[in-house]
Amino acid sequence: MNTEYLIADSLKLAATFQYPSSGAILCDAKLLKLYPEYFAGDKLLPTLALKAGEKDKNLNQCLKIYEFLSEHKIGRQDTIHVFGGGTISDLAAYAVSTFKRGCRLILYPTTLLGMVDAAIGGKTGINHLGYKNYLGSFYPAERIIIHTSFLKSLPKAELRQGYAEMLKYSLLSEDLVLPDFGSPEMLEDEMILSFAEYKMQICAIDPYDQRERLLLNFGHSFGHALEAASQYKIKHGDAIVLGMNIACDFSFQEGLIEEEEWNAYRDWLSEYPIPAAALRFVDETPMENMMPFMLQDKKNGQGLRLILPSKDGIKVVELEFDPRAAGLDCQTAGFDTSRVEQG
Ligand SMILES: NC(=O)c1ccc[n+]([C@@H]2O[C@H](COP(=O)([O-])OP(=O)(O)OC[C@H]3O[C@@H](n4cnc5c(N)ncnc54)[C@H](O)[C@@H]3O)[C@@H](O)[C@H]2O)c1
Repeated sequence: MNTEYLIADSLKLAATFQYPSSGAILCDAKLLKLYPEYFAGDKLLPTLALKAGEKDKNLNQCLKIYEFLSEHKIGRQDTIHVFGGGTISDLAAYAVSTFKRGCRLILYPTTLLGMVDAAIGGKTGINHLGYKNYLGSFYPAERIIIHTSFLKSLPKAELRQGYAEMLKYSLLSEDLVLPDFGSPEMLEDEMILSFAEYKMQICAIDPYDQRERLLLNFGHSFGHALEAASQYKIKHGDAIVLGMNIACDFSFQEGLIEEEEWNAYRDWLSEYPIPAAALRFVDETPMENMMPFMLQDKKNGQGLRLILPSKDGIKVVELEFDPRAAGLDCQTAGFDTSRVEQG
């Protein structure tokens, strides 16, 4: 896959919903019920309803997609239209990228997190063997079409997950103006677009997660580990904010930042309303329980690669540590690896 192709995704903010004219649809089952006015009528395309959520972002649903595409004789020139949040776009884009070595793909993110983050930049993935996004590919959509009207039905707790990623971007770029989360109705379309465009720009200069794009993983090493260790009871955005807090504490402990900088980061992050149950989980979970998940992090090189605040801003830090030599995995740490449904 060449770089030109990798950065081919283009972003469009669409005011009115247009039902796709050809191809097939993969759609979060909830949306089919919530928006019959969009997904019903006399020109319906073949449509597969998918279950959203981390436990269903798995090989089992992926196989269902392959069977559906095969049944409808989908070829590489056909366009697959994907409607849903991040779990649906990660799963569906992974399936589309591997079916006949890839079909055409258009993503229509329907959660705030999907709009500003998950749909952009071509990372696809499913959870496997208890690990988050263990199987995946880089496969950018040809187009990402954002209909913010979908947000009117999004529960506040889900809106918060998108706000978490926006909070992260605002720590990385001074140019972004963070909306007031206390008044989600104030979230303007142009604001959403500015955050989405920020991610597009980073992905365009570093499509394969080698340099600049790695910084977008701030909070993710700890966050993904928390998600998996909590058996996905902690939602993605909440986990990332907790992960950013842990990363800041770690930086302070290791002397990478001074107390004043540490407090400034913590103040900024304290804007976010972390649910009490998630905080309790962090308090009660020793670091060694998260290590097996962190050791499997795709960002790791020879050692553990973390994105940490430092005196020169947020940067990639390589810790000297050999995950293979440690010999830890989910089983040895006593985790239930069936936590992600596999059958
Ligand atoms: N590929 C990437 O670059 C990338 C980046 C960030 C996050 N992610 C992934 O995104 C996932 C989280 O995405 P998410 O927060 O969108 O979760 P999600 O897709 O599970 O959606 C959250 C919930 O909202 C519902 N929903 C979706 N759209 C709705 C709407 N318009 N109205 C009402 N309900 C709606 C879903 O059915 C689900 O219950 C994680 O798996 C994370 O790893 C991927």
